Amino acid sequence: MIPSPWKLLNLFLLLVTSAAAAAAASAATAENSQSLPTLSSNGTTVFELLPKFGLPPGLLPNTVTSFSLTDNGDFEVNLSGKCYVNFEYLVYYESKITGVVRYGEISDLKGIQVRRFLVWFDVESIKVDLPLSKYIYFDVGWITKKLSIEQFTTVHSCQKGLTENMIEQVVDLYLIRLSF
Ligand SMILES: *[C@@H]1O[C@H](CO)[C@@H](O)[C@H](O)[C@H]1NC(C)=O
Ligand SMILES: *[C@@H]1O[C@H](CO)[C@@H](O)[C@H](O)[C@H]1NC(C)=O
Repeated sequence: MIPSPWKLLNLFLLLVTSAAAAAAASAATAENSQSLPTLSSNGTTVFELLPKFGLPPGLLPNTVTSFSLTDNGDFEVNLSGKCYVNFEYLVYYESKITGVVRYGEISDLKGIQVRRFLVWFDVESIKVDLPLSKYIYFDVGWITKKLSIEQFTTVHSCQKGLTENMIEQVVDLYLIRLSF
């Protein structure tokens, strides 16, 4: 059975409404988290630590609540909630990010996605050139995206006006449905 346009419209409105509610909820989380500590046990912040590995601090948003790092480079970062940051591409952070950090490189990364052509890709590793260049590389499986490193030199807050992006995604979804 082909759904009537009216049903699709209803679905669309439902999706938009829930997207807006979700956006409002996550904006509230982002606001609450501003004052939370981002310190490890010895008083170093993760934003001080990244440059020690040749990596820009802005790879992580300012909602980090805690992190741990072992001697062999395994790390775990907790954020106060899920987070979107609009870089050259929209980047999504889960509330927990894990990976292995070595000088100039994060591998085995879990918890960061990048959006390209309406599709979300898992970022599997992040690399910089050694010596440093103007670029940073996001590895999403079979593709490596070359991005300007400059946008990661400052630490960003999670996007507050998320609604627009989410509505855009819902519209994308709607258009994809219509085109089938
Ligand atoms: C704190 O710990 C990190 C690794 O956990 C280390 O790289 C850094 O040098 C330490 N800072 C101090 C001041 O000991
Ligand atoms: C991150 O959060 C989880 C669940 O709340 C907790 O078990 C874990 O210890 C936290 N990790 C760090 C590095 O604080």
